[in-house]
Amino acid sequence: KRIVVLISGSGTNLKTIIENCKPTALETISQPIDAEVVAVFSNQAQAGGLQFARDANIPTQVILTKDYPDREAFDKKLAAQILQYKPDLVVLAGYMLILTADFVHTFTGKLINIHPSLLPKYPGLNTHKRAIENGDTEHGTSIHFVDSGLDSGPVILQAKVPIFPGDDEIMLIERVKYQEHQIYPLVIKWFIDGRLLLKDKVAYLDGKAL
Ligand code: GRF
Repeated sequence: KRIVVLISGSGTNLKTIIENCKPTALETISQPIDAEVVAVFSNQAQAGGLQFARDANIPTQVILTKDYPDREAFDKKLAAQILQYKPDLVVLAGYMLILTADFVHTFTGKLINIHPSLLPKYPGLNTHKRAIENGDTEHGTSIHFVDSGLDSGPVILQAKVPIFPGDDEIMLIERVKYQEHQIYPLVIKWFIDGRLLLKDKVAYLDGKAL
């Protein structure tokens, strides 16, 4: 099976995915995901995560919004380039642009995202800061199928972390990312093994609605 990953930044989730997929899986991974990351796309030329792809000899493509008249044209190009890789799954891993409805429709049911909050709490940006400022005692991350809303598709799996008194944003980001690196490969494996699907806007695992 074939996975395409979209990033904008440091790409630590991408790194973990590469380390869990054949043929680049670490020796310590006992059950690698039976899929290959066939391409990585970024909307930022400087995205640190591109290096993880290059190190693994995975093709990378940078597509910049400034080279297109509007977001529709940009997403149309992006979708066309992604389709060339015939992906079974498109994974958003710190991809910081909101996708157009057309793009989402092209990949509905095989497009997933990870968002650093316990959705439906805190869609959008600065989730960690908002959780701390609101005095929350827990925070976390959510993996969801993507629909055309903002961080709004059906949730597949969440991981919680505590917020301790005195935590700053960076500490919380790191704590959340540690959990992301555990659960994103797991969910991708479910999907690749055919255990996870989206039907009529509902996510199912092993035939049971989530
Ligand atoms: C993650 O926290 C993810 O939830 C959010 O952006 C961050 C990406 O981190 N969407 P990285 O680029 O994978 O290190």
